[in-house]
Amino acid sequence: MTTWVGTSWKMNKTLDQAREYARTLAATDPGRWRGLQPFIIPPATALLAVNEVLGPRSPVLLGAQNAHWEDAGAWTGEVSVPQVADAGAQIVEIGHSERRQHFAETDETVNLKVAATLRHGLIPLVCVGEPADVFASGASVTYVRRQVRAALDAVRDPRAVLLAYEPIWAIGSRGRPAAPSDIGAVFAALHDDWGGAVRGILYGGSVDASNALSILGVDGVDGLFVGRAAWEVDGFIGLLDLVAGR
Ligand code: 13P
Repeated sequence: MTTWVGTSWKMNKTLDQAREYARTLAATDPGRWRGLQPFIIPPATALLAVNEVLGPRSPVLLGAQNAHWEDAGAWTGEVSVPQVADAGAQIVEIGHSERRQHFAETDETVNLKVAATLRHGLIPLVCVGEPADVFASGASVTYVRRQVRAALDAVRDPRAVLLAYEPIWAIGSRGRPAAPSDIGAVFAALHDDWGGAVRGILYGGSVDASNALSILGVDGVDGLFVGRAAWEVDGFIGLLDLVAGR
């Protein structure tokens, strides 16, 4: 079973910084990461540069943080799935809570983007997760199940899809790292609904070297989706080595 370990850089890094990160990663022997599938999701501006540094035979998959559901057209400020694929993306991240919160991403646009990503043969990485009040009320499972059903509505073959459960209250510098007991019920439910049907179900939200292994120990967790702890390449490599050595 492949364990996915990846990072989104979110809105960080210049081209020089992106290339430097990719160079260090490319110079590290990937034999150390047997059984793992590493991936990095730079900002769109750095996709091509990172792709060029990693090269065509890199074991590290490359992703975009967002893409529009139309292939082309009058959509100012957007990039399409064919465009990010052209720049080297193999994964498209869809529906991160920061996009749902700040950029009006809805279950409907998430669903359209999943369809577009699959249509072009890329891997949709669909992010779901409940806000703090939903968690406090004990309704996380219902909330997250519904989000995934909406995201994958009318998807006939979800085998390429990656899901990432990222509770909003656990993400970012103001987040509270989740304990394994906080996330077990959601993973059990997602595994019941989608285990075996999708490519993998990942966890994200304040993952770092101190909690990575205990989170991977939760039943149904197929990988980690990391933000801050992997924004420096040494942090990412450290996590890959840690998970590979478990
Ligand atoms: P942090 O690891 O910085 O909390 O971010 C997680 C995340 O949002 C990954 O998509």
